[in-house]
Amino acid sequence: MGCCIVGCGKGLPLLDVTNDELAELVDTSDEWISSRTGIRSRRISVEESSLDLAEVAARQALGWDGETPGFKDQPAFAPEDIDLVLFATLTPDALLPSSAALLRRRLGLTNAVAFDLNAACSGFVYSLTVAEALMVASQSGTNGSKGRNKYRHALVVGAERLSRITNWDDRNTCVLFGDGAGAVVVEWRDDAPGIISSYIHNDDDTTNSLVCPASFDSPFVFDDNGVNAALANDPAGILADASLDRIDQELGVAEGVAAGEPRQAIRMDGQKVFKFAGNALTNAVLEVLDRADLTLDDIALIVPHQANERIIKFAAKKLGLGLERFQISIAHRGNSSAACVPMTLSDAYDSGKISSGDKVIMVAFGAGLTSGAVLYEA
Ligand code: UT7
Repeated sequence: MGCCIVGCGKGLPLLDVTNDELAELVDTSDEWISSRTGIRSRRISVEESSLDLAEVAARQALGWDGETPGFKDQPAFAPEDIDLVLFATLTPDALLPSSAALLRRRLGLTNAVAFDLNAACSGFVYSLTVAEALMVASQSGTNGSKGRNKYRHALVVGAERLSRITNWDDRNTCVLFGDGAGAVVVEWRDDAPGIISSYIHNDDDTTNSLVCPASFDSPFVFDDNGVNAALANDPAGILADASLDRIDQELGVAEGVAAGEPRQAIRMDGQKVFKFAGNALTNAVLEVLDRADLTLDDIALIVPHQANERIIKFAAKKLGLGLERFQISIAHRGNSSAACVPMTLSDAYDSGKISSGDKVIMVAFGAGLTSGAVLYEA
């Protein structure tokens, strides 16, 4: 018995932006981007919100838009079947309510407990791990539920609109990211193993290698003495928010912000993250194998986070695996953070690379620094 993946889907924005088109914005080239990252184009949301993309992915995973590749014998779920919605994102459309609550309302999932989770690019793997933990605990009653609140079906989503927090003047980052959403439905089954092992892990990002401060638009009206009455007479005047200065220092962005960089934009030290990513990916794969008492020979496919094809090649070499054992979908997507793993999983199902009974590892790494993996039997 266990938590089985019984539906999968993805939602992509319409606009496809090529490397050549980006070369009109910043000093870059198709040759540089494709040879350093494997990316040739990426989808960018113009009209679609993160929630719109998530809705498309979720409907597909729930079997509401016809048959889902890889799950042809699975009947569509009824809205009231879903007990739990976990929504991984670092680019929600709103702070309140959560994206999960909005998705619950749109889809009419009236029985679901719904909340968001931000673990950056590892968000989907973290969310799946949390969903599984809640489902397992609720079956056994160890969560004090007295048999109530049994979570038998979870909708787990990763959706991002990274284009809204991208500095389009920064060639170090703007060529890497894309938008999109992916979703899975997880079902508690008494007769199948489903998720066999999982692993989530944090390291401190001591050098601020991957950061994005939050921006707040409302005027700050308090000084050390309380409300600043002068502001009322000077609506354009905004008091310095000392806490913002401190967080900018802590994240190492103060100098850039003072020089006019957009505050709420992703900043990355690519080489530092690259080094972390290659090792984190490898370690997480080995860790879930060890926890499951399995070896790489037992694994049909690895579905990794898609940040850079070279990171996947690095990990493949370290693990002694051919690249055909990895699902690689980066060429026309780029890095869409928490959406990457479920979208890539959906690609693997679409192309028939996952069959019933196969053992699959999903693995991710990202800001935080976070990393993790989930090993399951399809
Ligand atoms: O999901 C979150 C996790 N993120 C990641 O995992 C990303 C990890 N890092 C990477 O994927 C790579 O480090 C990058 C793709 C970001 C950069 O590749 P790199 O091979 O590490 O390049 P680099 O940063 O060492 O830069 C090499 C050169 C530099 O020029 P100089 O100093 O050698 O003259 C850069 O200024 O390439 C330059 N450069 C560019 N040139 C053309 C940086 N970005 C670009 C660009 N086009 N877009």
